[in-house]
Amino acid sequence: MAEYSAAALLDVVNTKHTAPANERVRAITARIVADLFRTIEDFDITHEEFLTAIKWLNEVGQGDQFGLVAPGLGFDRLLDIRADEADRRSGRLAGTPRAIEGPLYIPGAPLSKYEARLDDGSDAAEPLIMEGCVLDTGGRAIPDAIVDVWHANSKGGYSHFDPSQKPYNLRRRIQTDKQGRYRFRSIMPSGYAVPPDSPTERFLKALGRHGRRPAHIHFMVSAAGHRTLTTQINIPGDEYLNDDFAFATRDELVVTLESIDDPARIAAAGEDRPYARIQFAFALASA
Ligand code: DHB
Ligand code: FE
Repeated sequence: MAEYSAAALLDVVNTKHTAPANERVRAITARIVADLFRTIEDFDITHEEFLTAIKWLNEVGQGDQFGLVAPGLGFDRLLDIRADEADRRSGRLAGTPRAIEGPLYIPGAPLSKYEARLDDGSDAAEPLIMEGCVLDTGGRAIPDAIVDVWHANSKGGYSHFDPSQKPYNLRRRIQTDKQGRYRFRSIMPSGYAVPPDSPTERFLKALGRHGRRPAHIHFMVSAAGHRTLTTQINIPGDEYLNDDFAFATRDELVVTLESIDDPARIAAAGEDRPYARIQFAFALASA
């Protein structure tokens, strides 16, 4: 048996190993453990506080909520900032700005050519038509690019996570046509909020914060020979536009909304009431 001082204990925790180790895991763990030992000392953290933290971590894990806590603490945006910096250093054209993927992407959404309808007709929100093209950084159209799009319904819920929605509701993959164009019909999303009374929300409340995101639409755009772009567009006018709990809003990604209320244009689009239109071109960096 050994008697340890805090410093000796930290040293043995961070150096103990008898088998070959993953040195990167070891080094990163050592840093985090050292920081947490110091946090416990500096804040004189009690046994009870420590157990509260463990219980909270377990709840976060049981609820699959680490992916919700992380954006709230800025980690996802930090990774984007670092990727942007790497692009700037490399001096190459990066195309449309990236924005965080978030924890609510589901792969394998239904695939269609050129156009898709994302909503199943059950949400009475304002119809939305978004269209545009996928380009390379030289402005040339990219045919057969895949625009993988997902967004929340008018209550801020995402299919798969919100049991009231059918599988893949408001999720589609659209393959661009010969001129690089895509087009979809959907409904206007509302802002999202982290689940009420969840461990994530309780944590944010303890920090005096909310867990709300402004209305947004996610995209993952891929094409052969090009770097996959993960981004979002923001709907203008949302009260949380510049108060996003995930810090993901980017000025260049706040789109312009067109309100189409001319009966001839409404009919031409196959709609029966005024709708909103967004035009947006995605520019992909080369691989
Ligand atoms: C979270 C939710 C989102 O819809 C999103 O785009 C990013 C983060 C979240 O719950 O953490
Ligand atoms: Fe989202």
